[in-house]
Amino acid sequence: MEMKPRRLSIIRPDDWHLHVRDGEGMAAVLPFSARRFGRAGIMPNLKPPVTTVAQALAYRECILRVLPAGTDFDPRMFIYLTDNTSVEEVARAAQEDLVLGFKLYPAGATTNSDAGVTDIDKLHDRFEAMERSEVPLCVHGEVTDLAVDIFDRERVFIERVLVPIRRGHPALKIVLEHVTTKDGVDYVNYDRSMGSQTAATITAHHLLLNRNAIFQGGVRPHHYCLPVLKRETHRQALVAAVASGSPGFFLGTDSAPHAKHTKEAACGCAGCFTAHAGIELYAEVFAEMNALDKLEAFASFTGADFYGLPRNMETITLVEKPWLVPQSYEYGEGNTVVPLRAGEQILWQLEPSVE
Ligand code: DOR
Ligand code: ZN
Repeated sequence: MEMKPRRLSIIRPDDWHLHVRDGEGMAAVLPFSARRFGRAGIMPNLKPPVTTVAQALAYRECILRVLPAGTDFDPRMFIYLTDNTSVEEVARAAQEDLVLGFKLYPAGATTNSDAGVTDIDKLHDRFEAMERSEVPLCVHGEVTDLAVDIFDRERVFIERVLVPIRRGHPALKIVLEHVTTKDGVDYVNYDRSMGSQTAATITAHHLLLNRNAIFQGGVRPHHYCLPVLKRETHRQALVAAVASGSPGFFLGTDSAPHAKHTKEAACGCAGCFTAHAGIELYAEVFAEMNALDKLEAFASFTGADFYGLPRNMETITLVEKPWLVPQSYEYGEGNTVVPLRAGEQILWQLEPSVE
């Protein structure tokens, strides 16, 4: 007897960590997110970066202009924190509902982070302003010290940077973006147990893959992202964190499109493009863990609650029906982007299916 495919209806999810870039590439990738997610937190690491509320609102208008007609996708903006961010800018961000918070990139940590923060110790007045006005600080949690092994950069960031920020600013809302290690999960759980407003986003690729995926039969540039994939014990800690249903962890894909030729290069860019299956890939993980009942809170409730936003009202339906991911998608200006699982199957799909 043929089994009926499993189906799951959940409140429409939000993606609280998303890169959409700008220009033609942006127009090409946005529909993937708009189809799945109600809202997204848009990352500010453009060239040049989005460092003010005014720039963030202008960027948001550009996004709205190229969205497919009839979607009510609601981009919410992050502002790029620099050494020169003013306390007044923090106050402006606090007044603007469309701004979610500030994104801290240690200078040089990742794609377009040259304008990032060079000395955390000089930012205490800005952190204090955020703490006072309840503006979240979202961190790329990796040290840039070249003496630190790339696989240890998150743990060392927590020790050297995050713990001191937390000590100095007990009421600050902090998001450890794209947490990748057991150390990070433990830190979030510990900090929350002490009453702190700390949370982490988790990507689908860090839940699905360990670092072997970067070297499977040869070097795999499309599995190179930052923070870099970690060993299996860390992946298992991430999966356990989401399957626990803890409100300390919520969905942020970190879908980060790069043109194919810029990843398949002698010095390839960091980033996995996952927007084409931004919720389906998570459904795979939760199904595998027999934790599908925890997907809705992770994807649709916890992040909205953390940011103090209303939960979405509509629903989406996922069906356990495998589909073949194309080798690439168009990415503007004659470029293509290679999605996660290119040429392979994903086990869940959105209903009704379009792609
Ligand atoms: O893999 C990554 N890609 N990690 C980041 O932190 C940035 C992102 C990007 O913008 O490409
Ligand atoms: Zn990112």
